[in-house]
Amino acid sequence: MVKMISQTTIDNVFETARVEEVIGDFVVLKKSGSNFKGLSPFSDERTPSFMVSPAKQLWKDFSSGKGGSVVSFLMEHEHFSYPEAIKYLANKYGIEVEETERTDEQKEKATQKENLFIVSDYAKEYFHKTLLNVEEGKAIGLSYFKERGFTQETIEKFSLGYSLDKWDAFTNTAIKKGYQLEFLEKTGLTIVKGEKQFDRFKGRVVFPIQSMSGRTLGFGGRILTNDKKAAKYLNSPESDIYHKSDVLYGLYQAKSVISKEDNCYLVEGYTDVLQFNQSGIINVVSSSGTALTPNQIRLINRLTKNITVLYDGDDAGLRASIRGIDLILEQGMNVKVCTFPEGEDPDSFAKNNSIEVLKEYLNENSKDFITFKANLLVKVADNDPIKKANTVHEIITSISKIPDDIKKEIYIQECSRLMNIEESTLYSSLAQKLKKQNKELSKQLQKKNVPFNVISSEKQSFKKVDHQFELEKKIIELLLIYGVKEEEFEEISIEINDEGEISHTSEIIKSKVFEKIYLDLQEDETEFANESFKEMYQLIIKELNTSQNFKAERLIRKLPLEKAELITHILFDSERYELHNWTGREIYVKDKNQTISQVVSETIFNLRRYLISMKINELAKEIKNIKDESLKKETLKETLEYTALKKLLSDKLNRVL
Ligand code: CTP
Ligand code: MN
Repeated sequence: MVKMISQTTIDNVFETARVEEVIGDFVVLKKSGSNFKGLSPFSDERTPSFMVSPAKQLWKDFSSGKGGSVVSFLMEHEHFSYPEAIKYLANKYGIEVEETERTDEQKEKATQKENLFIVSDYAKEYFHKTLLNVEEGKAIGLSYFKERGFTQETIEKFSLGYSLDKWDAFTNTAIKKGYQLEFLEKTGLTIVKGEKQFDRFKGRVVFPIQSMSGRTLGFGGRILTNDKKAAKYLNSPESDIYHKSDVLYGLYQAKSVISKEDNCYLVEGYTDVLQFNQSGIINVVSSSGTALTPNQIRLINRLTKNITVLYDGDDAGLRASIRGIDLILEQGMNVKVCTFPEGEDPDSFAKNNSIEVLKEYLNENSKDFITFKANLLVKVADNDPIKKANTVHEIITSISKIPDDIKKEIYIQECSRLMNIEESTLYSSLAQKLKKQNKELSKQLQKKNVPFNVISSEKQSFKKVDHQFELEKKIIELLLIYGVKEEEFEEISIEINDEGEISHTSEIIKSKVFEKIYLDLQEDETEFANESFKEMYQLIIKELNTSQNFKAERLIRKLPLEKAELITHILFDSERYELHNWTGREIYVKDKNQTISQVVSETIFNLRRYLISMKINELAKEIKNIKDESLKKETLKETLEYTALKKLLSDKLNRVL
């Protein structure tokens, strides 16, 4: 994201790009009513549940739940960053990419980074050519790789290289070509000592480390001699473009296969990645010697929820490194672990066995983390009660990191079975752990309050939450589709005279849909229960209030992926019935004879009425527990008032419909 693309260009791209054309390059689409449909590119399916709406300029994949704008499709499918997606579209539609003016400081920083990228790219090419074309490169570097069993294809796929065994061969050539020493030094390719300059990777084979989108960020260099004093691997130092905790070796080559296979193999070293690729297992990355970091996990999490961690057979640091598993669990991912036979690592195993044997080995030995951890620790704990207790605590700690409650439960059962301990004992231990993490956890749960995944709160039953959920969703949908539409609403006022007779007066009022919704809900201070809807509601109201011609598609562009997905989901939900075979679920089909105004009024009434019944229920429960007579009376009175209000609303509702 070195360059900033101007808003004009972005708008231009969105206005020009046709979602059906762009997606059509990747998915076979067939016309279906006003939409297109096709097979989901995000899962294996036989009946199409992938929809593209030319009218809305949106797409929605019902099998994975993904959806959004043309840009978010490219981000999901091609794993582009936002600017990459914009540039891709600009290129496809022949739109000139204009860059915004930045402050001098921003420019400085951007060109600085750009220069580091350029130098790194040059170095990658230089080392690669040295390996393939220069005598010393061929004799030493290339023959080393060949000896390790790497093919020409693998060497090219990963742009492997060699740095000549001279103090400054690379630096000199680069400077002669016009690359500035400043940037050579900042990338760490050159070490500057006073007047002298040295090549960092002198005499080593080099492995370029690439970003997710394929830019060269840094290098790893392996020594070829048996010099005990020198490090086996030397890596680029941290720089403006290389942050070792944010990169995974092999990710660029692996990304699309990771998401297709819906699994990522995690190995320890460069050569493991290479050997797996060569065997035909492409969905593999390496954290290259460092302990796995949360950012690295996040990179994988964008592509799949499933990680299989592969450990060397004789890994002394195994116990330490399985701590990384808790980090993965914390991000809600599923972890499997596979170890290799004594003395083997993924590299040697892949090299010495056929792809069939390798695949079979992985399938048979990939164990769920809990089974793995239990087995491993049981061995250690043999007959020692204190060690066994520690073991159980360690496993419970891992389980406590899992965000999903149902999963937690399943793992507790599994652990009980494996360790032969009462489930109830494990639950109370888990409860203790959770209590400790409670503050942290409650924060997490709040953040995780994702719609379409309604979790019943303690007070309300599933069904009730669902009802409110549907109504809130409906309101968002109405705002998105009809927000700026002007409609005639029947405002009914009800009067009750002294004799208790009810009379209605009604008046037709012209109003925009969003104003009507906003004012009505404000009347009894209605608050959305679902956090995401609440946020979305405020956002849409604000947008409707400030922009002249509101369009849902335009709003979607401005939002982060997750929010945009929510909106897309809502918009497409109303079209579900168009999907062939999308049955098995009751679907909301609008009565064709109802006017927009009626639907809006009905929804508002229903939500208000629903909230009032909730309030009445709550009060009724309260009354049971109240001892103080006068307080009881007061509460009863309040209940009656709400009941009356509910009746009024029902009455109004009947009038409207
Ligand atoms: N590593 C490192 N610095 C070292 C040793 C290791 O950065 N001094 C990193 C490298 O990314 C290496 C990984 O840790 O790939 C795993 O280390 P190791 O198993 O020792 O290396 P291998 O990849 O197995 O390398 P080789 O097979 O060439 O010995
Ligand atoms: Mn190795």
